[in-house]
This record gives sequence, C-alpha cells and structure tokens, in this order.
Amino acid sequence: MTTKKHAPMTQFSQRDGELLIAGKTVSQVVQIAGQTPCYVYDKAVINANVERLRHHFPDISLHYAIKANPLPSLVSHVSTLVDGLDVASGQELALALASSTGADNLSFAGPGKSVKELTMALASGITINVESQTEIKRIIKLTEELDTDANIALRLNPDFELKSSGMKMGGGSQQFGIDVEQLSDTFDLLRDTRLQLKGLHIFTGSQNLRPESIISAHNNIFDLVERLIEQYKIDIQHLNIGGGFGIPYFPGDTELELEPIADNLKSLRQNYISKFGDCEFILELGRYLVGNAGIYLCEITDVKLSRGKRFLVTNGGLHHHLAASGNFGQVIRKNYPLAVVNKMDATEVEVVDVVGPLCTPLDILGSNIELPKATIGDLVGVYQSGAYGFSASPRDFLSHPHPIQLLL
Ligand SMILES: Cc1ncc(COP(=O)(O)O)c(C=O)c1O
Repeated sequence: MTTKKHAPMTQFSQRDGELLIAGKTVSQVVQIAGQTPCYVYDKAVINANVERLRHHFPDISLHYAIKANPLPSLVSHVSTLVDGLDVASGQELALALASSTGADNLSFAGPGKSVKELTMALASGITINVESQTEIKRIIKLTEELDTDANIALRLNPDFELKSSGMKMGGGSQQFGIDVEQLSDTFDLLRDTRLQLKGLHIFTGSQNLRPESIISAHNNIFDLVERLIEQYKIDIQHLNIGGGFGIPYFPGDTELELEPIADNLKSLRQNYISKFGDCEFILELGRYLVGNAGIYLCEITDVKLSRGKRFLVTNGGLHHHLAASGNFGQVIRKNYPLAVVNKMDATEVEVVDVVGPLCTPLDILGSNIELPKATIGDLVGVYQSGAYGFSASPRDFLSHPHPIQLLL
C-alpha cells in the first residue's frame, strides 16, 4: 500500500539548508520577529496568488474575506490588490474602512448582526448582505431612525449544495442566508422602503479542491439567479457567487485547477450578460488568497522517547494554531505539512510526533510524521498557515505567551 504524501510546498525557496521567506532565512526571520513562536506572511506569495486569479478570471471581481486573516498590515496590503473586502463583524468593518479606498466595495455578511453593527454599516454606506427577514426589519427601522438609505444584497440559501466541500454553507436548513422559498415574502418586505437591492450573494461553502464541484455550484447559482430574475423581475448590479476555492493541506491533496472553473464561468457570464445586460460578478475568497503565504514557526524545547515513540516538544501548539492541531472542524485528524525549516537539506529522517506545551493530548502539530532528525533549538515550520491560524486559535488557553505576527 502506498501512503499518501504531502504535495511539495513550492511557495518558499531554500538557501544553505534553511527555508527562505521573503528572501530571508528562517534564522533571520526569527531575529526580526524577536521570538518564536511566530507567524510569518510573505507578501510576494499573496501577490502571486492574486496574479494567478487575475490571469484566469480577468472579468471577475475579487473580494478578500477578512475573516481568513485580519492582521491589519496584511489587510492593507491585500486591499491594494483586490476589488473589495468582505467583513463579518463591526471590528472587521472598521478595519476594512481603514484599509480600503472607500465603502463602495465593502460588504458585510454573517448571521445575527447587532443593531450597533447594522448602524455602523448604514452610516458608512457599505453593502449589507442580509441574512434573514428579521435583519431586513431591523434595517428598515434604522433607515427611518437615521433618515438614510441602505445598500443591501440578499444572501440566499439556495436549493442545492456545494458538493465535496470542507464546510457546506448553503442548501438544506442553514443559519446563513434566506431560503429561496421565502423570497416572495422577502420582496414584499422590501417594497416601499429605503433599502436598495444592489445584488445577490450565494456562498455555498469553503475549502473545495474539486473543480467539478465548484463548476456544478456555479452552474446551479446562475440557473437559480436567472430563474429569480425572471420570476421576481429584479434588477441587480452585482452577483457575488462566493468562493470556496481550497488549498492543499493534507497528504493526497492537490492544488485546485483553476482553468476549467474559469472556462465555465466565462461562458456563464457571457450568457448572463447577453440575456440581462451588464453585471459585476464577484468571487469572495479568503484562504486561497493568503493561506499558502503564511508559515507558523516554533522551536523544539525537548526531544523525548516514550516507549519507542519519539516526541519533539515545541513552544508552539494548539493554543496558537488550532487548525493544525486538527481541532478546527476536522472530523479525522490529519497532519498539516511540517518541516524542520533550519535543516531543509538533512537526509537522515525519523518518524516523530510534534507536540506543544499544553497539558492536553489534543496539543499535536504532527503525528507519526517523517521529519529530518531534529534536536533542541531546531525550528519547526507549519506551512499553509496564512488563513484561520492566529485569529482562529484560543491563545489564552493555559496562559502561554502569544505568537508574534510578521508581514514581510
Ligand atoms: C461569507 C463567507 N465569505 C468568505 C469566506 C471565506 O472562505 P475561504 O477562506 O474558505 O475562502 C467564508 C468562510 O467561512 C464565508 O463564510
């Protein structure tokens, strides 16, 4: 039986046996950070991700979902490359306003937005991706109180699912979006109000590596939207078709092939425009833009042998990187790609468990993983850590020091 291996991580190069991040060796990077553990994000890798998307999707707008990585310097950098930002809280909204050139290309999605958050959205003029009829009623009341219009898009819960997705967020019963079966009542609510319907938003899921599933979701989205336009005679300026583009994390995962998705989307777009006129089509991406640009670095503090098993104990772990520990939505724990980043040339390997300092058996960064023979003081790097890493981790659990974040 052949065991599945991680795909080689080619976004960073090497020099003298050390990984190079933004042209610096990991030893230099750690000197700049001033400590391990740290997260390091490479701007050049983000730029390359955007260039690849622009090449394949020249007529589609790209939005960055801040939730993937809200580091302010990173959001500022990404905002210079993309066409818009998607926020999911009042704090992300403030960050987006500070990072972007204006409110026109900002949207706010997410269930249960508070009155305070809706007020922020109305006052700043961004588009609210409305998730429920209650939210519509709240916005109507606010437009009256504040004497203002509101830009909205309806987030729809469609009558189909994104297949083979790491996380499904559309189809069936959902806390996200308004069921398409409830649209007649929803359009009644919008009549004679100051809510301006700018567009539709359909986000069906996340972390998908199968082009055929994404193509099928796009076909279903366009089919649904065309039916709705004909049935309800609505006029939309934009259609946000979500994203869901995945990146390879686990053994056996391969890079998402963009070409077939782009070819299909091109013809869906042309067909739509020929029927209904111009419209802005938006891809809303998080991890695909920033996930492979980040690496989490920690240091080996102990090497111990327990009944035949070798453990590399590090000063980093679950509290800094919940996803790599396998506790952020994984059903069966799998290893993120790891390397001993100051020994990239080493030929002697051993099978180890890489663990953190927390008093819980869940604190694992790698289990039964083959790595170069390592010792105390060596650096372990966890690749694919640019999204849902630092901000998606319980950093105060057990009160160890927090990691530093660097954008280089
Ligand atoms: C509404 C919305 N947009 C964008 C994203 C970003 O997804 P990803 O980082 O997988 O691209 C999510 C993820 O949950 C989401 O819920």
